[in-house]
Amino acid sequence: MTDTSRENSATRARWQTCLRLARELLLVGPDDKDLKLHYLHTLIDTGRLGPTHHPRKKILVIGAGITGLVAGRLLKDAGHDVTILEANASRVGGRIKTFRATKHHQPFDDPAQYAEAGAMRLPDFHPLVLALVDKLGLGRRQFYNVDVDPGTGSGPDTPVPPVTYTSFTGRTWTYGDDSPDFREPDKRGNSWIRANRVQVRRADYATTPERVNEGFHLTGDEVRAPVVKMVDEALESVRDYYSDVVDGKRVNKPLEEWVEGWARVIRDFDGYSMGGFLRDYAGLSDEAIEAVGTLENMSSRLHLSFFHSFLSRSDINPGVRYWEIPGGSWRLPHALHEGLRDEVRLGHRMIRLEFHDPSRDTDPEGTGAVGPDGWGVAVQTVAEDDPQAPPRLWTADLAIVTIPFSALRFVEIVPSMSYKKRRAIIETHYDQATKVLLEFSHRWWEFTEDDWREELERIAPGLYEYYRTGAEADTDPALALTGAEAGLLGAAVKDSSVTEEMRELNGSLPLRGPAVRPATHAFGGGSAADNPNRFMYYPSHRVEGSTGGVVLASYCWSDDAARWDSMRGPERYVYALRNLQALHGRRIEVFFTGRGATKSWARDPYAFGEAAIYTAHQMTSFHLDVSRPEGPVHFAGEHTSLKHAWIEGALESAVRAALAVHQAPPVTTPGPDAGEERP
Ligand code: FAD
Ligand code: ARG
Repeated sequence: MTDTSRENSATRARWQTCLRLARELLLVGPDDKDLKLHYLHTLIDTGRLGPTHHPRKKILVIGAGITGLVAGRLLKDAGHDVTILEANASRVGGRIKTFRATKHHQPFDDPAQYAEAGAMRLPDFHPLVLALVDKLGLGRRQFYNVDVDPGTGSGPDTPVPPVTYTSFTGRTWTYGDDSPDFREPDKRGNSWIRANRVQVRRADYATTPERVNEGFHLTGDEVRAPVVKMVDEALESVRDYYSDVVDGKRVNKPLEEWVEGWARVIRDFDGYSMGGFLRDYAGLSDEAIEAVGTLENMSSRLHLSFFHSFLSRSDINPGVRYWEIPGGSWRLPHALHEGLRDEVRLGHRMIRLEFHDPSRDTDPEGTGAVGPDGWGVAVQTVAEDDPQAPPRLWTADLAIVTIPFSALRFVEIVPSMSYKKRRAIIETHYDQATKVLLEFSHRWWEFTEDDWREELERIAPGLYEYYRTGAEADTDPALALTGAEAGLLGAAVKDSSVTEEMRELNGSLPLRGPAVRPATHAFGGGSAADNPNRFMYYPSHRVEGSTGGVVLASYCWSDDAARWDSMRGPERYVYALRNLQALHGRRIEVFFTGRGATKSWARDPYAFGEAAIYTAHQMTSFHLDVSRPEGPVHFAGEHTSLKHAWIEGALESAVRAALAVHQAPPVTTPGPDAGEERP
């Protein structure tokens, strides 16, 4: 083969990879079937996997996160004998976890309060998860990514609109009844942007970005554009690959061109990091990238793949409508678990997976291919809550492994999986995410200045003025300490849980900013800052019967998250409060109950990270191999989809794998003991 023909065949192979990735990304199946419609039909319309030549197989599902629960449920309802092995001894749900009061634990002072450690918002264009929430009767209400005017909108008694999905085939799928009276509240943008010591409301930044942008040393045209516009403009030429602008709106090209357009995007840009793209391709200045990174939550992701941020710009953006589950996201896995009480086995961690793959005659690496003694898969587990208990062996015809690859990395697998699968398990980049949540006895973020006066005067006459004059503390360190020394931390809270340790730490830290900032007066939404908290979210709704609320004081990814992971809980709370005070004034301290909750997903012993987020080249290098079955072992989970870090991706993968396992023949004819749990 000549160099040129080798090059040509490599180029052709690469193009085929890009085309297949594009089809996977867009869920275009064989014969141009819309797989999303197929999954909606399967999970929502019928709840049935359809006819099969191979009914009643013994199936092991590893992991009782949302993927394992949904796949398990579909397979059980299809008549299979399903066992779901979950390492966590106390709960199902995996990365869907709500901090809330249970029989054993109360994270917040007010037992009615709760807050999300993991998934919190469901975008309007994720129909599988929204329709599943509706089908299970969990209720749904808006999650406000941007704060709203609570006096507007149709109010909580108006039914929510139906879930709809418009397919590339032209068909529109709908679940639920029309709700002609539903109206969203108006967005207000009262929350803050604070960077380089300049603080403005979001609404003001959108119209007059200059002060904030000058803080980033932007010059020329860049200083006059809100950063979101800069990013959007930079991405326009990529969107041109697969869509056209018609009457000012983006319209996808016809199917074949649309798919090929995306394949070309993958071919041309998968090798870029987002930082590299903005600098080298879009020509943004370093300062503009710093501004974009800080305000658009990209600085911690500039080194990660272009694709991740490109796709998530349509997922997380102010124009999108989001939903949440009243009472907490935990209710979704919990509702599924209710129908799977006998199938889910908590506290069993898979440590070894052995499988028989009849398509392989021998095991090329000599690691010991298993013989056909009546089962296709054997899983060894250890008991999480009983270190003395001997390991157990579970056998089945087939298995669906839903645990993150970061967790699978620590499981012994015999025989070795295919080369590319091994590479994917080794290399898939997992990002980290950390949340720090603080409880307050009053929702000070909703206050007007009059509310502040009233509430502070209620605590102690003169306190309102004390803070206003204490504003000088900004320039006088001696005065700055007075508040802390006077024990104002938690002053409004009867029997607050503020500990001596917190008080001491709080007293020793310098204040960031004055005692008083203009009242935020925000309902839902969030603020962004260049301080270590980075992104702060106010609850979208009040908790019935409670005067207080839990603020997501810090939601960070990547390096921003890693900084918090080095700190202990009480330290995190005091620092998170300090950084929250920088935007909202010191006076918020009086409402701090002393209670918080914090979650580092990189330190979670079952997740080993937040979510699969590829670095440059990873999608083209191995994504097609991630979900490919290895003999009787199938793979599902968020990481096997191309909607990384979303429940929707996990659900797509759950239905895909359940359908495949339902159709698959048992690998061997089960012997009399097959499927039994052996000691
Ligand atoms: P998991 O939920 O991780 O389930 C895997 C299960 O396997 C776990 O229960 C785990 O305990 C178990 N397990 C692990 N190892 C073993 C073993 N060896 N043996 C047996 N069991 C094992 N999505 C949204 O849609 N909206 C959001 O707002 C959102 N925000 C997020 C915020 C954060 C901080 C995080 C971390 C995620 C967020 N997500 C969000 C993503 C969403 O939570 C995940 O995509 C989804 O929950 C993943 O489900 P899964 O079943 O694939 O994996
Ligand atoms: N679904 C997540 C959220 O709504 C997105 C997480 C993206 N994570 C990341 N490291 N970029 O917050």
